[in-house]
Amino acid sequence: MPTKSYLYTPGPTPVPPQVTAAMNRPMIGHRSQEFANLHGEIVEKAKTVFQTANDLYVLTTSGTGGMETAIANTVAPGDRVLALVTGNFGERFAKIASAYGAVVTRLEFPWGTAFDMEQVTETWEKEGPFKLVLATHNETSTGVTNDIASLGNYLKDTEALLLVDAVSSMGAMDIRTDEWHVDIMVTGSQKALMLPPGLALVSVSSKAWPIIEANGGVRFYFSLLEARKSFAKQNTPWTPAVALFYGLDAALDLILTEGLSNVFHRHTRMTAAARAGARALGMELLADDSVASHTVTAIIPNTGVGANDLSGILQKNMGVTFAGGQGQLKGKLLRIGHMGYCSELDVILAIAALEMALYKAGAAVSLGTGVQAAEQALV
Ligand SMILES: Cc1ncc(COP(=O)(O)O)c(C=O)c1O
Repeated sequence: MPTKSYLYTPGPTPVPPQVTAAMNRPMIGHRSQEFANLHGEIVEKAKTVFQTANDLYVLTTSGTGGMETAIANTVAPGDRVLALVTGNFGERFAKIASAYGAVVTRLEFPWGTAFDMEQVTETWEKEGPFKLVLATHNETSTGVTNDIASLGNYLKDTEALLLVDAVSSMGAMDIRTDEWHVDIMVTGSQKALMLPPGLALVSVSSKAWPIIEANGGVRFYFSLLEARKSFAKQNTPWTPAVALFYGLDAALDLILTEGLSNVFHRHTRMTAAARAGARALGMELLADDSVASHTVTAIIPNTGVGANDLSGILQKNMGVTFAGGQGQLKGKLLRIGHMGYCSELDVILAIAALEMALYKAGAAVSLGTGVQAAEQALV
């Protein structure tokens, strides 16, 4: 086993040393003024990343807990919900709504494609109105980004709330929560926000509050009404993961110091390098360039060596971890996460490892081909 390991899963992602150091600070009481100050600063910084003036809450839970918060506060049994499903995480959003008793209309799109606005409007005209529309901004299982701006623009004059899962893109891609009319935007800590797992961030629009207040469904730990009450004291209703709050503060500083537009640009370039490298190795990309995620690249190996075999070689011989396919794509994909604390050179390294794994597996690959293409995308 090599002594150094290289993590390219699309969450959890590597954590910068500044963030790790911040998390090692001594514990403080979460009802102290010191925590209240920290909390206030974090929320303001996070709002800048979300590009929102809406209320924003930092919850001690995973991304799925953030999604459940969005649903638990807006869905009562029997409510009609439209779920746009473009992969595993769209599927999850729909399942949570069903679990809360919603009557869910699933509009499914082939995995590897984005949702199609024409089909969305057709469904709305034939079957609408719906109380909620659920969408995934960045479908991590397929490496596809959906056009939330068009969806929000279509829904803004309806009564429907738009709930968006941006768990694997917030902090890496240009997400305009307010300009896109997103009512509840959800993200998680362990992706582009460069933290360990354990926090979810949720923004709530003024259009959403009356629905949340009127909702008679069940909620307790995930109650946004409780979160809002505590927020008035710069606090959280339950004991927060204080160490992760320290880390989040440091991570948001890193993002804002680099500058949002520079962060977005870096992710665009890393995507271009990953895609060029994989293509030069004779591999196929699941997502079309026009909808390609900037945080995760899903690759169909197509070189005579299976995804699982390649993953095994990468892991055992080089200490490199890629993710595999999920759901219907299990065993068929390699997914390279390139978000957060990840540089252009890290992507070159990922492509170099992939190329060597192919070579070791006996594929007809000329060493250097993938790396050269990835480098060319960057120089
Ligand atoms: C798009 C998306 N949504 C939701 C989740 C779920 O987040 P968690 O695993 O933190 O519950 C993930 C995690 O991979 C994700 O990528």
